[in-house]
Amino acid sequence: METSSSFRWTSSDTIPSNFILPENKRPHLSQVPALSSIPIIDLKNYTGDGDNNNVPDSSLLEKISHACEEYGFFQIINHGIPEDLCNKMMDAIAKLFESMPPEERKQFFTTDHTKQVKLFNYYINNDSANSQDKVQMWSESFSHPWHPIDDTSHLLPGNPPDYREVFGEYAKEIYELMNKLMRLISQGLGLEKDCLKKRVGENPSLRAQANYYPPCPEPELTLGLNVHTDLNALTVLRQSPGVTGLQVIKDGEWVAVDFAPNAFVINLGDQIQVLSNGRYKSVHHRAVTNKEQRRVTLAMFYGPNRDSVIGPVEELVDEHHPPLYRNYRYSEFQDEFFRQVGTRRMVKEAFQFKK
Ligand code: OGA
Ligand code: NI
Repeated sequence: METSSSFRWTSSDTIPSNFILPENKRPHLSQVPALSSIPIIDLKNYTGDGDNNNVPDSSLLEKISHACEEYGFFQIINHGIPEDLCNKMMDAIAKLFESMPPEERKQFFTTDHTKQVKLFNYYINNDSANSQDKVQMWSESFSHPWHPIDDTSHLLPGNPPDYREVFGEYAKEIYELMNKLMRLISQGLGLEKDCLKKRVGENPSLRAQANYYPPCPEPELTLGLNVHTDLNALTVLRQSPGVTGLQVIKDGEWVAVDFAPNAFVINLGDQIQVLSNGRYKSVHHRAVTNKEQRRVTLAMFYGPNRDSVIGPVEELVDEHHPPLYRNYRYSEFQDEFFRQVGTRRMVKEAFQFKK
């Protein structure tokens, strides 16, 4: 395995103080059960052909709908995306973080969130007195657009040399998968299969975020990613084989997402929660670190563009289900999100009608 000293934030048994969370924000790893109940959904018999009017197997829709209502998360297997391609993608990401030349690192590193392509660190604003203002997360993230790939590939790093090519192939596969999932999720809500896609709107914002979590000598004191919900509509996450770290809230408790071979982790973002008028959940999650193995993940986000207007789909609103959210332009939502960076995120709450 290639490693680079620039990613070893420490070579000792302890972590530097700027990574240490105040007690009330630490992960309490021993209290998180090892096995989770996050549904694993088999897509083997689903062709997902959007051009015919085949209604998918009702048990598949029920499974999806149940997962979206109860967990906001599920894993999919037998999705048709070659494992080999996914492994190449994850290897290219690991190399990108581990061997990016210093000049390129400088070129991409930024705290300006409006940059198209950016390398950055997440942090938490510390509200407790007598401590540092910011606590850095034990991770590094690299984010860039992922579609249309032919228009964006020149923005991507030239190192490792196969990153652009592998990413292009991967993005095409994920685009098809996203479309399938959006159809299934629409139909799970009892809507026309294209409903949610139409409501997310033309020219969706498609961004990728690669996350790199080096081994951490003191996983109890820090986090890889702070507690958050994804603000977009849908996320397709791939994780490096065999290494867990993602945890989600279920009934008020943290549960770990198991590693399932050649699976994708799917989660709903805030926009699906709003469009479904609260029926489907955008659930809080976080990434934790471990002592032994580096972990790499790639999140592919699908969301509205800044001009799309988002609000509860009319078919899901009636006298028993009054609208929970007001309509808003997605730019308002994003602006609110960036106002809250580093704090406990309560973005969709800002658009909720008062009870
Ligand atoms: C994210 C995310 C989880 C992980 O990128 O939004 O939640 O395990 N990632 O990396
Ligand atoms: Ni997330």
